Amino acid sequence: MKLNRVLSIVVLLLLLLACNQNNKLKSDNVFKNGVVVTAHYLASDVGNNILKQGGNAFDAAVAVQFALAVVYPRAGNIAGGGFAVIRTAKGESESLDFREKAPKAASEKMYLDANGNVIEGLSEIGHLAVGVPGSVDGMVKLHEKYGRLSWEKLVQPAIDLAKNGVILTALEADKLNAYRERINKVNSGKINCCYLRKTDFKKGEVIKNPELENVLIRIKEQGRKGFYEGETAELIISEMQRGKGLISKEDLLEYKAVWRPALIGKYRDCKLISMPPPSSGGIALLQLLKGAEEFNLGQYQFGSFEHIHLMVELERRVYADRATWLGDPDYCSVPVNKLLSEEYLVNRFSNISMDNKSNSQEIKAGNVEVIESFETTHFSVVDQWGNAVSVTTTLNGNYGSKVIVEGGGFFLNNEMDDFSIKPGVPNQFGLVGGKANAIEPEKRMLSSMAPTIVEKNGKLFMVTGSPGGSTIITSVFQNIINAVEFKMNPQNCVNAPRIHSQWLPDKVYAETDAISPTVKRNLQDLGHTIQEQSRIGMMANIAVNEDGLLVGAPDTLRHKDSRAIGY
Ligand code: GLY
Repeated sequence: MKLNRVLSIVVLLLLLLACNQNNKLKSDNVFKNGVVVTAHYLASDVGNNILKQGGNAFDAAVAVQFALAVVYPRAGNIAGGGFAVIRTAKGESESLDFREKAPKAASEKMYLDANGNVIEGLSEIGHLAVGVPGSVDGMVKLHEKYGRLSWEKLVQPAIDLAKNGVILTALEADKLNAYRERINKVNSGKINCCYLRKTDFKKGEVIKNPELENVLIRIKEQGRKGFYEGETAELIISEMQRGKGLISKEDLLEYKAVWRPALIGKYRDCKLISMPPPSSGGIALLQLLKGAEEFNLGQYQFGSFEHIHLMVELERRVYADRATWLGDPDYCSVPVNKLLSEEYLVNRFSNISMDNKSNSQEIKAGNVEVIESFETTHFSVVDQWGNAVSVTTTLNGNYGSKVIVEGGGFFLNNEMDDFSIKPGVPNQFGLVGGKANAIEPEKRMLSSMAPTIVEKNGKLFMVTGSPGGSTIITSVFQNIINAVEFKMNPQNCVNAPRIHSQWLPDKVYAETDAISPTVKRNLQDLGHTIQEQSRIGMMANIAVNEDGLLVGAPDTLRHKDSRAIGY
């Protein structure tokens, strides 16, 4: 009897294993029907459940966006913005711009004192740093055009997470603790919010957010009106009044996410589908890839002097273009075709030499040594039909402006810092800008987000993207060249060590194991300044392998909570 029982359990386990193998196929993270890769396993799980219920990739993306607002509050959001690049199963592509914009009352010199100097921190922390949020309208638009399941079904998992609570991971507890004092200071006097604490957050404790639960219920029941009008809008406006912020009732009412043609480019035998302005991500990425092709980067060994030096020299020129030419296309004319033309790029890269390091132009002092690595978050989804979506979404800095909407339980972005607040003065990522990205009422601030989809021979090849402010572009660039130039498998593309440079500051940031001592000496001999950076970027990748199966490649090495979940 006892033996029979043991045998039947063994048979059952074998059966379960066989089923699982059938879906998970051969190695970890290889799936047949659909996969979701995000920075938090609970959000990946939410997305995968939507796919399993017959939802498509766009449904899953909406559910993930709301779930991240609960489980990953440092970057997931309802009061931030972002970009989505989509490719349907039929091969049609489009992009959705749900970037925040400046409030109507914003002005070019709003962060400068009477002497024209930047008032430190004003564009980064507190109520004046907040742009008009775009995420909720973005999700409504994505669902209206491409969704399959009901809106209510997609918002419900986030409501459940806020209601039942989220078990804090070590990473999230550490992050909340690192920012606890700053968050408390900005929100002093408020009560009841789950993120306001005098004591440390601890791994394993359950965080419930009833205030956010109520906001999400309103969004579920009323769609965009549940956020931009009525009770939630009133909470946001009261919060603005409390801290002398600029967002008005009209700003909220009039906010609109915008469908834009995706930016399309060619690189070797791949078609790139990426984000056009107001993100610089797509243009910069395509320029870099053109350079990789021009110099046949794949002829060099990965991590060699030639590989690193050439990437840095390309990046220097591309980021200089970014600072000069890019901004919101509704407010300035961005010479997209010129910047991507073969003639322009060949000429632009023609003075790159293997024997010299070029010097970035001198600018006013503005030493930005810290690159916040994990603000912003990226997720990728592919469904059973082959629809793909690549979404990068953000509050900008970790926990955005640190302002929590009283009674709402959610953080407001600090996206205004992505404007060029004064020509030549670097923002929190060390990025400088000029007139094209100057503040104007209702203008969208320039971004580096680069959600991207890659096609090969007319078929889906890769869905990719990363957080990391200015390092987004170079992380996505390296991920793609790792696959195409260095023929790495999808997980190795993500795991491979990264470097980053961006014209100004004139430095090469390198992950600890990215540059060997010999290559480092060679680079330094040429005049490169190298600064170690613990982590650069955090990819969330999906690739399609030769058998047509989906390979999820999370950046678990750099961020333990990342997960690819599929079926
Ligand atoms: N907030 C970072 C970016 O949009 O590039």
